[in-house]
Amino acid sequence: MVGASTIPEISLDLIRRLDVPGPRYTSYPTVPMWREDFDADAYERALALGRTKDEPLSIYVHVPFCREMCSYCGCNVIVTRDQARVERYLEALEKEAKLIAERLGRRSITRLHLGGGTPTFLSESQLERLLRTLESIFHFDRNAERALEINPAVTRTSQLSLLAQFGFNRLSMGVQDFDPNVQAAVGRKQTVDETREMIEFARGVGFSSVNFDLIYGLPRQTVESFRRTLETAASLRPDRIATFAFAFVPKLKPHQRRLAVAEMPGPVERIALLRTAQEMLGIAGYRTIGMDHFALPSDELAKAADALELGRDFQGYTVNRAPETVALGLSGISFVSGAYAQNEKSLNRYCASLEAGTLPVERGIWLTDDDRRRRDLITQLMCNFELALTCKEVDYFAPEIRELGALRDLVEVRSNHVRVTPLGRLFVRNVAMVFDRYLDPQAALFSRTV
Ligand SMILES: C[S@@+](CC[C@H](N)C(=O)[O-])C[C@H]1O[C@@H](n2cnc3c(N)ncnc32)[C@H](O)[C@@H]1O
Ligand code: SF4
Repeated sequence: MVGASTIPEISLDLIRRLDVPGPRYTSYPTVPMWREDFDADAYERALALGRTKDEPLSIYVHVPFCREMCSYCGCNVIVTRDQARVERYLEALEKEAKLIAERLGRRSITRLHLGGGTPTFLSESQLERLLRTLESIFHFDRNAERALEINPAVTRTSQLSLLAQFGFNRLSMGVQDFDPNVQAAVGRKQTVDETREMIEFARGVGFSSVNFDLIYGLPRQTVESFRRTLETAASLRPDRIATFAFAFVPKLKPHQRRLAVAEMPGPVERIALLRTAQEMLGIAGYRTIGMDHFALPSDELAKAADALELGRDFQGYTVNRAPETVALGLSGISFVSGAYAQNEKSLNRYCASLEAGTLPVERGIWLTDDDRRRRDLITQLMCNFELALTCKEVDYFAPEIRELGALRDLVEVRSNHVRVTPLGRLFVRNVAMVFDRYLDPQAALFSRTV
């Protein structure tokens, strides 16, 4: 744990040196390295290989729709009010779920996650139809976790009641920042009162765990304004708080060009914002989890961190419940039998593929033995901040271990043991980059590491 008293001072020179574009390592190899010749047949082979496994599986369902585009958003989103498009999408989702369920056989599902976009963009009857289909065709474990992401501004209590009846017990709320000045800069309006009412209602109907998403690095954020946001967020006592580094990628997300670059905190301020989160949330009783997540000590994420059992997926840090994930919906990313597969990102291509009875795969990759080794190491670094290498690994990664010598402030290397220092925890992406074999050609595509 990095507590307020253990956060070291950082020189300006170091921050400048480490402020480079780099992946967030929610996957390895990272998405730009995946291949377009990984198609529906390849994904079918991966599913067939996984059919007889008895390890548990997660299901992710992407609901891409939003009423309006928040100008900072980096997610795969479709802004629409056209119900015909939504209905076509839901029909395609059901077709995809059936195709996948036939191929998975009786594998037990231990986690369902509805992400977005905004899952509560769907009406009560649309949600009910989708959930009935999923429940009827997949084999959910009796204690399966069911989670969803919501934007409180477009969520009705009747939707939460319905979801609770379907066994949903985890809620992740987008907050980003409570400061009206920051909200105005990013096109988002959300009061503390409506957030408080939503959290209270959710707990009342049976959501046992609530998470807040905050973002640091947004335009007009200052240490003082973010301190107030953190204080307010902590006073509402969500079980978890994720503070994501703002990913400013206007080349990939052209709507981000609406943001005023001159109003964005620079690298020094961004580090100060992250340290403020660690300090304030530590004082408020939260444990620091990984790089940028926080949890109350009673939360299972904190317990998993103690037991070195944290996992990392496209939603951030998780309790490592199921090593494989099958994703349904536009742009969804699956990881099965040592292969990543990503679905089509165009609504039309996604629906048309399923209407023709084909899984809508856009790209993917079979991991090589080298990829698996590096994926494993990078995950351990990002989650546990240390590596205990075998003698064979010390030989295999000898060039990388030598390279770590240049990051002396961030890592300590002792024979076969690599430990990320308290300072290095703020820059663990830079440490992980040493083990990324593909880094150079793709680097410019990523957000900055600081
Ligand atoms: C997929 S979004 C769904 C949240 C929900 N639609 C909402 O708006 O509250 C999940 C989270 O991703 C984070 N996020 C979105 N765009 C981001 C960006 N450009 N950089 C960092 N985090 C981002 C936000 O914290 C957001 O709550
Ligand atoms: S932040 Fe949420 S509501 Fe806003 S555009 Fe992104 S997914 Fe939609």
